[in-house]
Amino acid sequence: MCGIIGYVGDKEIVPLLLKGLQCLEYRGYDSAGIAIHEGHHLNVIKTIGKIAKLEEVLKIKKATNGTNGHSNCGIGHTRWATHGEPSNINAHPHFDTEEKIAVVHNGIIRNYQEVKDKLINLGIKFVTQTDTEVIVQLISENLKKTKSILDAILKAVKELEGSYAIAILFKDEPDKIYAVRKEAPLVIGIGNDENFVASDIPTLSQFVDKVIRLNDNEITVVAKNAVEFYDLNGGRIKKEPQIVTKTKDILDKKGFKHYLAKEINEQAEVISNLLKDFLPNPEKPVQLNHLKLEPDFIKSIDRILILACGTAYHAGLTAKYVIENLTSIPTEVQFASEFLSANSLLTKRSLVIGISQSGETADTITAIKKAVLTGATLLGITNRADSALADLAKEHLILSKAGVEISVAATKTFTAQIAVLYLFAVYTAEILGTADKTSLIKIKQELRELPQLIDQALVRAERYQEQVIKYADKPDFVFIGRGINYPIALEAALKLKELSYIHASGYASGEMKHGPIAVLDPNVPVVSIVVSGETYERVIQNSLEAKSRKAPMIAVAIDGDKKAESIFDTVLHIPQVSEIISPFLTVIPLQFLAYYIAEELGRDIDQPRNLAKSVTVE
Ligand code: M6R
Repeated sequence: MCGIIGYVGDKEIVPLLLKGLQCLEYRGYDSAGIAIHEGHHLNVIKTIGKIAKLEEVLKIKKATNGTNGHSNCGIGHTRWATHGEPSNINAHPHFDTEEKIAVVHNGIIRNYQEVKDKLINLGIKFVTQTDTEVIVQLISENLKKTKSILDAILKAVKELEGSYAIAILFKDEPDKIYAVRKEAPLVIGIGNDENFVASDIPTLSQFVDKVIRLNDNEITVVAKNAVEFYDLNGGRIKKEPQIVTKTKDILDKKGFKHYLAKEINEQAEVISNLLKDFLPNPEKPVQLNHLKLEPDFIKSIDRILILACGTAYHAGLTAKYVIENLTSIPTEVQFASEFLSANSLLTKRSLVIGISQSGETADTITAIKKAVLTGATLLGITNRADSALADLAKEHLILSKAGVEISVAATKTFTAQIAVLYLFAVYTAEILGTADKTSLIKIKQELRELPQLIDQALVRAERYQEQVIKYADKPDFVFIGRGINYPIALEAALKLKELSYIHASGYASGEMKHGPIAVLDPNVPVVSIVVSGETYERVIQNSLEAKSRKAPMIAVAIDGDKKAESIFDTVLHIPQVSEIISPFLTVIPLQFLAYYIAEELGRDIDQPRNLAKSVTVE
């Protein structure tokens, strides 16, 4: 969480830092700020609120001569508060007492209280409630004992525990940014007569086509025409740039009102691209041969453990049905934050699948690191090739290739994750011979038809909108499904909560009568996922039980389902699809339900309150 940008070069710096911060705003948006070298001092301008607010503040400052914006070197930050509420004072950059050093930080300093107490004992006065301020005060204190800026930073980071990506400006070094990282991303962008620092590659790819990723415990000194790298002992390191494709403007909403709407609407294309790569021909095996999983290992797998959080966890739950159904390998799905290696039953024959859109989620990364200590093999699924998960799972990595997802609520990356997991299940079943050929070909054919079917659901957006906005005044929603659509009920409840702030729960529909039914009344809509197949009659039965409690009744059902039409007040229709493939389609009207209700309530769709897209703290 928190985004960092830095620039050294001759371009007009303020608009450039603002553009970088806009690209990084998904990482946190409760406050923002910049620090630039201006004349002989460091100018820090920061504010509570989003980047748009910072932009306003900067305009006012410029008009009142508070900043002339003339600078060759600066850093910027967009914050998701951990220590200290969102406020002007807690916004980054942070100064040392003498205002000679300005720091921006992403991560958490775990021992900040200890360090702060030590510095307070030395007479240093703290002005913020942040953990970050200890970094800048500590460096400043160290600088009193050494002339070398590098030494002062190295000494400070050796004392700090936790995770950090830090960028630092020094008043006495007007053309340099110092940066260091441990367990939080930081990348250097290499340009012509200009260089950058940022929290992610897509942001840098707006400006440059060469980047160098900083590794843990590396420190860099970035100047206009040179970038140097050091280890924590101050030894020089040589690092080569990698070429990245300059992405088109990632901030382009392509005519949609919100990124969320754009991303929901990209799902057919995303799935189509994945299928082109991994399943070009349904008559042939799934093409995941880039995974270096030996067939002998696959044949020996004793269990699969999926570790993930939030929406990625729901993708894992959906996949469990498909993997067990096609491969008969016992598959468990755990919240990464709940993983305890001692209870995991993992062995050298186990496969751990880590799923994370960002590839940065601290809970997921920590759990995976613990899990692989058992000797289990790791398969990573992420949307970000430049992430910690991609690094950990180098050998066995599947990229979900959904493109940049800006809206904080995950939509297209969820369908991409389940597509990848279905393909992995089929791939494994083909090696193991655990499913008959005809049913595998049928599933593959159905997967190939998905982009068309998803498109047919997407074009119904307006109809879904008309159908759902009348429920926007309800304070509580219940989503129910069975079998493979139970995780979709969970995902739909999460989406509605995130986007609209309405309380919502997802239940396995059979569980309703064991307690949750008590919450039902005419103010609590029940949304049932009723897809023809094994679970259909029982979900209908459970829905009737809810209807008897006078709950407003909404269904997601297949086109032409007369029974559903006769029972439910509102039916969100989806195209004909088999039960096993249905999650790709049942989720779509539910994404729209969350979107349109949130929009009706005037919520901040792309940046809901209290959230950040990549959660890099445990
Ligand atoms: O980047 P990850 O997939 O690891 O993120 C996991 C969750 O934080 C994420 O899915 C979160 O629940 C989203 N906001 C869901 O929309």
